[in-house]
Amino acid sequence: MSNIGANISSPGTPLVAFQLHRLGAGMRLGLTGLIVALLMGLAASAYTLHGHYERRDEIPGLTRDDVKAAYHGLDAPSPLLRSLQGGHPETLAKPDRDQLIAWLTGDKLSENYDNLDLGPAAPAEIIAKNCLSCHGKAAGPNVDPKAKAVMLDTWDQVRKLAFSRKLERTPDKIKAISTHTHALSMATMSLAVLAMVLLSRWPRWIVGLVAMLHGLGLMVDIAGWWLAGSTIFGVTLHFDWAVDMIIIGGAAYSSTFAALLGMALLELWWPAFGRR
Ligand code: HEC
Repeated sequence: MSNIGANISSPGTPLVAFQLHRLGAGMRLGLTGLIVALLMGLAASAYTLHGHYERRDEIPGLTRDDVKAAYHGLDAPSPLLRSLQGGHPETLAKPDRDQLIAWLTGDKLSENYDNLDLGPAAPAEIIAKNCLSCHGKAAGPNVDPKAKAVMLDTWDQVRKLAFSRKLERTPDKIKAISTHTHALSMATMSLAVLAMVLLSRWPRWIVGLVAMLHGLGLMVDIAGWWLAGSTIFGVTLHFDWAVDMIIIGGAAYSSTFAALLGMALLELWWPAFGRR
């Protein structure tokens, strides 16, 4: 990369004298400490983000639905209920169907699943009698493989399909507080990190590209929070595609943040870099 050195004497870079690798050891150590602290902060926010949103959609694992539940709200009816109301399976007697529907639309799902007081009307009994021939581990080899993808032997399996998930998005008031702290602090922090990389020997086009993704990423992320679901001055915004803005913008912002910190560290401690 012979053109890296050219930046040093080029008239287009009057900041050469302030490049980080030219600073004294004390300043370089100090900046290194700050950069490492920022990296630890970034790791911690990835960790808390995971823990904070992982169960937003009531299913473990961080997925798009978690982000959607938090910013857009989620309305996913119970697959079990939907299937029963749709007339599946045709062989199910009406009283049994009504019994299961009443159970699924009630608020005692786990309590009543195998409630002994209900006798043969207990959901577990109805399911055992009417569903397991296709949806149980004992189902024969001739059963449609699509049925075997839905196992209903245990409560643990049934509950994953039993609950309707209707989740309200985070209220605007809380979103405003979060925007106020995040937008201001993250943008300010990014300015400092961009300044460090500006004072480096990294080729300008790399600095420009990373800076662009970084800054626009934050804007798209935070704009997405509001476009996904909010009411601003009486206008309700509720766009599903804005959930992707949050995911893509957030990923662009945090990955370029890590990249910028790495670039600053290299600039600080790589003496041969750019010298010939
Ligand atoms: C004769 C076999 C058979 C029986 C009995 C049966 N199912 Fe199914 N079930 C299937 C098949 C096959 C599918 C897959 C259908 C498909 O994906 O096109 C399925 C799919 C489902 C699904 C998934 C629907 C979705 O939207 O993904 C649920 C939930 C379900 N069954 C519940 C039940 C319940 C509850 C019972 C008992 C009351 C039951 N089934 C009885 C064969 C059966």
